[in-house]
Amino acid sequence: MQLRPLGATGLRVPALGLGAGRIGGPEVDQASVDRLVGRALDLGVTLFDTARSYGLSEERLGRALQGRREGALLSTKVGYGVEGLADWTGPCVEAGVDAALRRLRTDRLDLVHLHSCGREVLEGSGVVEALGRAAAAGKVRVAAYSGEGEALSWAVRSGAFGAVQCSVSAVDQEELDGAVATARARGLGVLAKRALGNAPWRFSSRPPEPDLAEAWDRFAALGLERGELEWPELFLRFAAHAPGVCVALVGTASPDHLAAAARAVEAGPLEAVRAAAVRAAWPGPGAGWGGRV
Ligand SMILES: NC(=O)c1ccc[n+]([C@@H]2O[C@H](COP(=O)([O-])OP(=O)(O)OC[C@H]3O[C@@H](n4cnc5c(N)ncnc54)[C@H](OP(=O)(O)O)[C@@H]3O)[C@@H](O)[C@H]2O)c1
Repeated sequence: MQLRPLGATGLRVPALGLGAGRIGGPEVDQASVDRLVGRALDLGVTLFDTARSYGLSEERLGRALQGRREGALLSTKVGYGVEGLADWTGPCVEAGVDAALRRLRTDRLDLVHLHSCGREVLEGSGVVEALGRAAAAGKVRVAAYSGEGEALSWAVRSGAFGAVQCSVSAVDQEELDGAVATARARGLGVLAKRALGNAPWRFSSRPPEPDLAEAWDRFAALGLERGELEWPELFLRFAAHAPGVCVALVGTASPDHLAAAARAVEAGPLEAVRAAAVRAAWPGPGAGWGGRV
């Protein structure tokens, strides 16, 4: 797997990372997470992106990586969910980092994101400074923000973060010329979340979950053509090789889907004509479609 600089942070990240949002629920057990993580490391998919809110994802990743932590990059998200502390306060962020260190069984986190708070929280609650203190204490290598819209724009320009995470896919192109381009110009790393656009081609009818329904609507409206490529390949080659994107995250609990994603990313950028067609589909229907948080 190709390694790339994460902006100017000094970290080198694989072009594909594992989004660990799908490994925290009851439908998955530790043994299957161990297998998934082992397969990921074998494939060179060495960046794992989790969050406080992904069920047992942090705990399971921590167990799966025992004895092989050195080969991995751990990314998580904080800001809420610490007993006895108000969400979106400085103390909650600092205690959240400590709790994530314990759950992930490590003494340093490679990336910690403030998880999708709004601009007013970024500006006025002390959470940015608290994350900075955790970084200064050596607990966090790169302070980051994950989110969309004006909070993302603020984060990119604030000087407080080494990286940002936002939605980038064929159905999430809003930030490519916006925050992603600005981040690139300013030396910030970019993690592309939802790189498969939540795989809308899977559904034979409009799914009820709001974020999946939105992906479905966009996919239908864009009328993309995949030619001889499978949809996951088209989506992943588009997102992982978009200018400014350092690492594309695929959310999966399936080792086979992960291996297919790795093959797709390693096949390189889409042919220029096809990438241009994906971009050209956006401006009409995409006007007014914001980044999907
Ligand atoms: N606010 C935030 O910070 C935020 C929000 C969203 C996402 N994220 C990050 O981005 C990661 C990815 O996002 P996501 O999981 O929402 O969306 P995604 O990666 O775009 O889509 C995930 C879905 O695609 C399916 N899938 C994967 N490979 C497939 C394949 N080859 N064929 C058919 N289906 C396939 C997965 O099911 P299977 O398990 O069956 O493969 C899963 O249901 C998350 O895990 C998280 O790390 C962050």
